[in-house]
Amino acid sequence: MAKTVIVGITGSIAAYKAAEVVRGLSKQGMEVHVMMTEGACKFITPLTLETLSGNPVAVDMFSEYQREKVPHIAYAKQADLVIIVPATAATIGRLATGIADDMIGATVLATRAPVLLAPAMNSQMYNHPLVQNNLQRLEEIGYEVITPALGELACGDVGDGRLADVSHILEQVIGKLGGQNDFQGKNILVTAGPTREFIDPIRFISNPSSGKMGYALAQAAADRGANVVLISGPTGEKPPTKGKVVRVTTAAEMLQEVMKYFPKMDIVIKAAAVVDYRPQSRAVQKIKKGDGQIQLSLEKNPDILKLLGSRKGEKILVGFAAETQDLVKNAREKLTGKNLDLIVANDVGQAGAGFSTDTNIAHVLHRDGRVVEFPLGTKTQLAHLILDEVLSIAGAEV
Ligand code: CTP
Repeated sequence: MAKTVIVGITGSIAAYKAAEVVRGLSKQGMEVHVMMTEGACKFITPLTLETLSGNPVAVDMFSEYQREKVPHIAYAKQADLVIIVPATAATIGRLATGIADDMIGATVLATRAPVLLAPAMNSQMYNHPLVQNNLQRLEEIGYEVITPALGELACGDVGDGRLADVSHILEQVIGKLGGQNDFQGKNILVTAGPTREFIDPIRFISNPSSGKMGYALAQAAADRGANVVLISGPTGEKPPTKGKVVRVTTAAEMLQEVMKYFPKMDIVIKAAAVVDYRPQSRAVQKIKKGDGQIQLSLEKNPDILKLLGSRKGEKILVGFAAETQDLVKNAREKLTGKNLDLIVANDVGQAGAGFSTDTNIAHVLHRDGRVVEFPLGTKTQLAHLILDEVLSIAGAEV
């Protein structure tokens, strides 16, 4: 049966982009119902949304009574998912305080379906503590916020607060509705983020990994039905909506946790940027500065992935290769050297790829020599491509 998505549109200039969201969802075969605030109607007409969704659009709760007996309850019950796109500061504030005097407020309060919010506003407004507190409050009760993008805003300012890309919003909705369930019952271990190797109590060696790629993989796998264990180094990323998260700091801790979960896994994806060397000893007290130079002796950390490769058995093992030169050649060496099925090669020196960005550019190399290119796209898109490649591996009956 087609999934039903209720789309709430509020009064921001980004309202016109909601039309593309509605169109995208309808094209996926979803049943889409739109509700709009009066403010939204100043930016885009209900007729546009009516045409794109193929359904009447609800604006005034009371006039809706002619069509539905109790319209907000009808919407709330039908919904498999509710998304507010764009969500203005005013609507976010109203939702956070449970104000229900229009279709959007009342429907959101009445539904038990997942609620997604895609904020769009000026960055000063977005970063205002009141708006941030309201968003946090909504997240605490389980609503999901699709982080706005950084870029030029309608007012001419540059900052965060721009509605997330339509393609990203569509991915989130489709992912949530479990469009694909092709990893149902599979146990997947994902590692993400950097490790930290301490020199003394307050100083460490690390790298700029944000964990975004690993978290995108964990979310994508969970959305496709997998049982996910995410072992994460220190990051500021929000945990996936499903699955288990195990937090670690050092490579040694990551090794210990990975080994604990490894035996039960069908697939292991090692997206973590493990620090290769650690200080030979960790000073108990903060090292005070002297007059001269100091020497730091480093010893090698275990190569977790290589160790897993040596015990791989029937499991599918996916590694990452962060390179600044000879991308494919170096990645292939890692693939064979570590006994992997798949390696995702990133040229971390390229704009739009690598650490901390929301996008990536990659080559996915198979053991049998096949190479799948991923031109610039979101880390969520790359995550799904990697999962598709995992499934494509001969004997992927894991
Ligand atoms: N990896 C690991 N344990 C390490 C180092 C790396 O498990 N101690 C894993 C990473 O999670 C990644 C893959 O190995 O999936 C490749 O990591 P990368 O840093 O690109 O390569 P290295 O093997 O460390 O080689 P080099 O730093 O020399 O390029």
